[in-house]
Amino acid sequence: MAPRPIRPSPSPTPRRPTTQRPPPTQLAADPSAVDAAPPPPPAPLIGPAPAADTDPAPDVVAFDLVASVELVTLADGLRYSGMAYNGQVPGPTIEAKVGDTLEVRFTNDLDEPTTVHWHGLRIPDDMDGNPRIQAPVQPGETFTYRFTLPEAGTFWYHPHVRTNQQLEKGLYGVVVVRDPAEPRPAAERVLALDDILIDERGALYPFLASHPEVMHGRNGNVLLTNGKIEADVGAARQGDVERWRLVNTANARTMTLTLDGASFRVIGTDGGPLVEPYTADRLQIAVGQRYDLEVRYDRPGQVVLNSHVPVLEGDQVVERAFPVYAVDVEDTGAGPVALDWPTAAPIDRAADGEAELRFNARQGARGLEWTLNGQAHPMEPLHTFSEGDTMTLVLINEAGPEHPFHLHGQFFEIVPDGRPETEQPGLKDTVLVPGLSTVRVKAYLDNPGQWMAHCHILEHAELGMMAEFVVEPAAE
Ligand code: C2O
Ligand code: CU
Repeated sequence: MAPRPIRPSPSPTPRRPTTQRPPPTQLAADPSAVDAAPPPPPAPLIGPAPAADTDPAPDVVAFDLVASVELVTLADGLRYSGMAYNGQVPGPTIEAKVGDTLEVRFTNDLDEPTTVHWHGLRIPDDMDGNPRIQAPVQPGETFTYRFTLPEAGTFWYHPHVRTNQQLEKGLYGVVVVRDPAEPRPAAERVLALDDILIDERGALYPFLASHPEVMHGRNGNVLLTNGKIEADVGAARQGDVERWRLVNTANARTMTLTLDGASFRVIGTDGGPLVEPYTADRLQIAVGQRYDLEVRYDRPGQVVLNSHVPVLEGDQVVERAFPVYAVDVEDTGAGPVALDWPTAAPIDRAADGEAELRFNARQGARGLEWTLNGQAHPMEPLHTFSEGDTMTLVLINEAGPEHPFHLHGQFFEIVPDGRPETEQPGLKDTVLVPGLSTVRVKAYLDNPGQWMAHCHILEHAELGMMAEFVVEPAAE
């Protein structure tokens, strides 16, 4: 079939597609799982304190979320003036199951506007925290986010106004959506991996004030796990199998991870379960991305999650391993129990056409601007698609710095082209486009609406790499 040409952009006033429709279902994992026997209680969740559900209905998760200015503790004696959801960094972990209604009564106690974006959730666009659709929540105001959770997986939430500052200051949290068909591991660990740029007393350096920050985004000088410089050391028993949910919440830093002392398999990515779990020696996790791991404690001792960071030593860039999390495994002599994770059905959809997105930079009146298809902060949609389209997005990085591209409201798969960085199975909402290279993704545009499409290096987005794609609803 000949590729379908991309339709020209619509008129300057984008239409608001209807949002009163069921969540997209074409990518649902295994529909038969929905009617399974009553689920066992979920595994204990280890990580940022969860939000307490205030609604007694079994399929409604409701709570209050308040953003406020807080003095945030990073370690003994190190504090910065930051921001927090419900007084904690990371914000409360949201636990729910697929199909539940999530109702978040959000109050802005900051002295600046904000929104809450639900990264990776295919929800209606007017609930997505997009400040072009939802008027930002002003100081003192309240807004209720209410939507159905369309699929199981690991997602996260953060503001979408002055994001480079509000997120770095502490506004982020993890969303855990379970599927009743999933087996029950011994525990689930939520690990929000971050970095932060601070001086010796812990105060945040000014934003966008240095050339490296403008060029490469704000790379911190300390790594944080769940908001702490020294993460708690976990405890487990040999023979246990756990599920780890990793989220890269940094402003800019791509992380390379290894896990020493235990075996692991990747069982899920941004969009939920994989067609087939896989093993890996190293995991590269770009900002915004998630990985769900099955961790098997097959031997006693200490298990260490290492983050491998390029550092300058003399005039050489060398890689150094920094431990970011550890678990002490008690000797029981037991062998691990294999768990049978639900898998996704392979998606058999040929591309209907191609659409290009070119990443570059230029000198603007106020300094460097980051551009998408030659424009900084384009106000008109760069592309308009139709609900149900399958499109190959050709992501062309015309300059040196890498760009983790994120599309709201949809999932895509990376098209393998022989390079290791494209051999990443699973549904994604964020993909790393290395410098001076092209990456293709096959996007399943099943969720109609106006969707932000941007670089998740928040400084690049702030300086122009922030655009919109429209997915027009199919005729009823
Ligand atoms: Cu993590 Cu536009 O978002
Ligand atoms: Cu970028």
